[in-house]
Amino acid sequence: MQLAERMSRIGTESAFEVLAKARALEKQGKQIVHLEIGQPDFPTPPHVVAAGKRALDEGWTGYGPTAGFPEFRELIASYVSKTRGIQVVPDQVCVVPGGKPIMFFTMMAALNPGDEVIYPNPSFPIYESMIDFLGARAVPMPLVEGRGFSFDLDVFASKLTNRTKMVILNSPANPTGGVISRDDLARIAELLRDRDLLILSDEIYSRIFYDEAPESITQFDGMLEKTIILDGFSKTYSMTGWRLGYGVMPKWLADAVNLLMVNSNSCTASFTQRAGMAALEGPQDAVDTMVAEFRRRRDAIVAGLNRLPGFSCTVPSGAFYAFPNVTKTGMSSRELADLLLYEAGVACLSGTAFGAYGEGYLRFSYANSLANIEEALSRIAKVSERWTAATT
Ligand SMILES: Cc1ncc(COP(=O)(O)O)c(C=O)c1O
Repeated sequence: MQLAERMSRIGTESAFEVLAKARALEKQGKQIVHLEIGQPDFPTPPHVVAAGKRALDEGWTGYGPTAGFPEFRELIASYVSKTRGIQVVPDQVCVVPGGKPIMFFTMMAALNPGDEVIYPNPSFPIYESMIDFLGARAVPMPLVEGRGFSFDLDVFASKLTNRTKMVILNSPANPTGGVISRDDLARIAELLRDRDLLILSDEIYSRIFYDEAPESITQFDGMLEKTIILDGFSKTYSMTGWRLGYGVMPKWLADAVNLLMVNSNSCTASFTQRAGMAALEGPQDAVDTMVAEFRRRRDAIVAGLNRLPGFSCTVPSGAFYAFPNVTKTGMSSRELADLLLYEAGVACLSGTAFGAYGEGYLRFSYANSLANIEEALSRIAKVSERWTAATT
């Protein structure tokens, strides 16, 4: 018996593979510093946990409406309207188990084989995986380090064709920490305004930023009606395991996503949604505290990486990843990531885990304590003679 042909085209997220390798080493007694994982190392805020527990006690344990509880969709619509400076209504909101299903469902609903999708590269690996899986054509947009890992807009313009059905944006970005500037968004909006296509704007890191607040493409004229905003609770409220996210999109597409939800999940867990309501309605100081701590770690890890021979790291403006350029080590990203894991006991990801244009980079997640970050940096410094000796 063979798997369906389409399974030969699906990708994966290698963060989970590196985690498995690191865990195997730990089983052998090695001590590993984990800088590969993309989840905040903070607990879910206590008032959110309490709301989840209360919901279980109160009996929020059955099926709910497929698109999410109406009062939750209402809250999300007003949160998104306020944070993006736009006007959206609850009918445009689909509540789903995490941010990822919004990628899966909107692409499944909108893409035909052969449709072209322009997506950032390097980027979250599931974009490319889904595009390939659906038989659409993945058109990579190389990110430019010198532009804070944004697009070269002339190159972007040259990739647009009459087969372009979707453009994916992700700001703040995984794996680079880059934020797309307002000027770039304005230009992108200008280029897309008269085209019949969708924009998938992955804004899952919208609350994790260190300079100016990131803006959403939906703020620009004519964009809201062609954009899917992807957001959720995993990163902002440290709720990765609760599985809670949402999309805001034109009503015709929301109807299709809800159909895919009926056919797959029926609904998102009811008590999880009640916890999500508490997250949006309650105090936000846990988010501020988390971001302040991320900023301290970002400054420490960027400074430390820049002291390593062969590494140069720009300062990321958002998310919780550092993405140093390691071309001067003379090693491939993959070789270097393996060397750091096996020789230094530091788990990080090769830039190529995020696409071909990630070659020459590593991704370090700084969702780990300052002490562990310092330990990782000193371990890497100790093994750095391996590549300095080879290149001098
Ligand atoms: C850019 C980006 N989008 C979406 C997701 C998925 O989030 P969730 O865990 O809520 O499905 C992630 C998770 O790492 C991410 O980095």
